[in-house]
Amino acid sequence: MRLEKYIATAGIASRRAAKRAIHEGRVTVNGTPVFVPGHPIDTNADCVAFEGKRVTSTAERLYVMLHKPAGYVTTRRDERGRPTVMDLVQDISENIYPVGRLDLETEGLLLLTNDGDFAYRLTHPSHEIPKTYLVWVDGVPSEKAVRQLREGVTIPSGKTAQATVSRLGVRADTDGTGSQFKVIIHEGKKRQVRLMFKAVGHRVVRLKRIQVGELRLGNLPPGQHRLLTPTEIACLRGTGRRGFKPRLPNT
Ligand code: URA
Repeated sequence: MRLEKYIATAGIASRRAAKRAIHEGRVTVNGTPVFVPGHPIDTNADCVAFEGKRVTSTAERLYVMLHKPAGYVTTRRDERGRPTVMDLVQDISENIYPVGRLDLETEGLLLLTNDGDFAYRLTHPSHEIPKTYLVWVDGVPSEKAVRQLREGVTIPSGKTAQATVSRLGVRADTDGTGSQFKVIIHEGKKRQVRLMFKAVGHRVVRLKRIQVGELRLGNLPPGQHRLLTPTEIACLRGTGRRGFKPRLPNT
């Protein structure tokens, strides 16, 4: 196995960070610094150390699905002392961390793992993993606005790519003044869904991620977590679909 992959698979660092560490001489193989990423590792015989600490490839890999409630920060530690998603997985002693990010007020499916390679692959833009959201907005966006959302709108971080946008109807909690949508995006720009709707003049009042790739939140209660099944892990690993074009138009 290539050295940077070995480190990433062990959950120590992303592949990119591992390569940097190798270049900087922070990785040793059998006691000797190796400066070349790609250096072959015999996983049964070689002793790899990252910044002086032994890297064990046999460490248990954990893949956790959390139903994140609103009001929890997606970070391992918050300097402002707010509740973090780590507070909800305290029974897990392994060093897991969130894969990607949901805003403070966003609810729904969040993955946590100690497998750096897996996390890197899942969040890298080139893999274009589809993410599905339920969106509750104020007002009733026009057909023109929905078309713009599907085709791409300009938000502060750039133009959004094509998205699948389905109108689900009026919001049950309003008398016709609010609407609900299902949105599938393939990128992870900051606050993307909220900013997309803002760009067409509508405020998102609630946002919930219900699916990542083929992985569904299902009826996991808010605040609860569970381990992914081997089938779900294998499925996510194979989810990347380069060049995937969402269906247009849709309902
Ligand atoms: N889009 C958002 O606006 N927020 C999220 O948390 C995820 C997607």
